Amino acid sequence: MEATGRPALYVCSVLLILTEVSSDFIHIPVLVHHGIEGKPLLLPVETHSSLDEAEIQGTWSHTRPSGTRTTLVTFTKEAYITNMMFRNHLHFKAPNVSLLIQKLNPDDEGDYHLSLNIKFHNKTGLVIEEKTVHVTVDVPVSTPVLDKSPSNAVVEDKANVTWTCSVERGTRVVFQWLRDNVTLTPSDRYRFSQDNSTLFISPVRKEDKGTYHCLASNPVSQGCHSRAVELNVYYGPYNLEVNSVQGLRTGPVFTINPGELVFFECQADSNPPNSYVWIRNATQVITEGPRLEVRSYTLAQTEDYLCRAFNNVTQKQKEAQFTLVVASFGTGKEKHTQEGSSVSPLAAITVCSLFVIGCMLLFFLRRTCHPKRVLLSIYNKPFSEQKRPHRSGHEDATEDFGIYEFVSIPGKMESAQASCRSLARLESIQDIHTTIYDVIRHVPETPSHSLLQ
Ligand SMILES: *[C@@H]1O[C@H](CO)[C@@H](O)[C@H](O)[C@H]1NC(C)=O
Ligand SMILES: *[C@@H]1O[C@H](CO)[C@@H](O)[C@H](O)[C@H]1NC(C)=O
Ligand SMILES: *[C@@H]1O[C@H](CO)[C@@H](O)[C@H](O)[C@H]1NC(C)=O
Ligand SMILES: *[C@@H]1O[C@H](CO)[C@@H](O)[C@H](O)[C@H]1NC(C)=O
Ligand SMILES: *[C@@H]1O[C@H](CO)[C@@H](O)[C@H](O)[C@H]1NC(C)=O
Ligand SMILES: *[C@@H]1O[C@H](CO)[C@@H](O)[C@H](O)[C@H]1NC(C)=O
Ligand SMILES: *[C@@H]1O[C@H](CO)[C@@H](O)[C@H](O)[C@H]1NC(C)=O
Repeated sequence: MEATGRPALYVCSVLLILTEVSSDFIHIPVLVHHGIEGKPLLLPVETHSSLDEAEIQGTWSHTRPSGTRTTLVTFTKEAYITNMMFRNHLHFKAPNVSLLIQKLNPDDEGDYHLSLNIKFHNKTGLVIEEKTVHVTVDVPVSTPVLDKSPSNAVVEDKANVTWTCSVERGTRVVFQWLRDNVTLTPSDRYRFSQDNSTLFISPVRKEDKGTYHCLASNPVSQGCHSRAVELNVYYGPYNLEVNSVQGLRTGPVFTINPGELVFFECQADSNPPNSYVWIRNATQVITEGPRLEVRSYTLAQTEDYLCRAFNNVTQKQKEAQFTLVVASFGTGKEKHTQEGSSVSPLAAITVCSLFVIGCMLLFFLRRTCHPKRVLLSIYNKPFSEQKRPHRSGHEDATEDFGIYEFVSIPGKMESAQASCRSLARLESIQDIHTTIYDVIRHVPETPSHSLLQ
């Protein structure tokens, strides 16, 4: 037991020492090289300065992808021997043990092994280093050529489209497809060939419309773009809509004022553009084109309109129907704030009544709270003769100081009527003061004369 265990332990510890020191003396900066056919390729090696003192002996060998292994160079510090078959092909760089391949050909692909035995003068052990570098050899990709079949525009749901991307030169080519700069992936309508060089769209749809590119790349060429090819798809009509900036819309019903000129716009998404026809009362063709002009005078009139959009390539059509009602509902501005035409007069009446009540209350309060009153009689003087004083007031302002009351005399009160009109325009309670102030302002410099007379 013990006799067999001891040597195994020694071997283990020796290996441990070997692996411990081995990574320090040589360094390979690049472990995978993508070489270009016909170009030189250097497999660089960096050696540690401590190797200057040591005795070294090593080999470079090559393993093809098929598995055949060949020794290329055997070297010591003093000399090297290159395999006779590769004398003109390889160049060994003596001081740092790098290997240069003069002109790459496909046979140079594979793994390159560097094996190094190092013996330091101050040590008894032997250090062994092994490194492997992988090399690929490729032909750069030429500009890909993009083809489409059929070459002209196609009708959606009826046609299939086949795209092909081909390259004249290039090895290990990988193809990628883009529509409007977005990468395409396989789906139920998008199928790719084994090598991704063909894209088959079946059936073609509206969303397939766009600019197509193919991209060809390999380890030595990054994404060569083909020219852009447009795919035009005939589709539609879709999303038919009738709109108008005038009139009141409630679902499919448009309400317009009598005599108002209203324009209707019919729109649908379609390629090529639709032809539009407007039909009244189901049978009567009024006009062609996306725009309809209607002016109606008859109140409570109801008419059914229909806009029909037709795509003459897809042979498909869509219709949108609406009802036109002629009713008085106010101006165009009001429709934005009010839902129905009945709201406007109702609100006016309510506010008018509130104002009248307010006026009466105010007058009543003034009459009861202020015993000092000055009654102004202006009815015996026509309004046309009265001149408006300056804003600064008349000269005898100090004499006129007091509380004024406006007495309404039926038939003569133009200012009162004016304030009522302003009330109808939904103005605020400020009008009361305006009215009273107006009375003061309407009192000319002369009323004292008329009172004296
Ligand atoms: C190896 O030595 C050669 C020749 O002296 C030199 O051109 C090259 O740069 C060296 N490479 C490295 C990785 O040190
Ligand atoms: C041997 O010499 C090298 C440099 O020449 C040094 O790095 C190493 O540590 C030395 N080893 C021993 C055991 O002295
Ligand atoms: C489109 O491709 C489908 C199969 O994906 C085939 O059945 C159909 O006949 C093709 N249509 C045309 C117009 O080639
Ligand atoms: C796609 O990208 C190219 C540049 O990379 C740009 O010129 C082109 O306008 C883009 N096309 C679209 C549809 O975004
Ligand atoms: C084809 O493209 C798909 C992605 O679109 C990718 O997953 C696949 O690996 C590609 N096949 C080849 C052979 O390049
Ligand atoms: C449309 O039909 C309505 C009743 O369905 C009728 O009152 C109206 O006169 C018709 N208009 C035209 C222009 O024929
Ligand atoms: C479709 O209509 C357009 C005009 O809107 C016309 O120029 C074109 O020739 C028509 N195409 C067919 C196939 O009828």
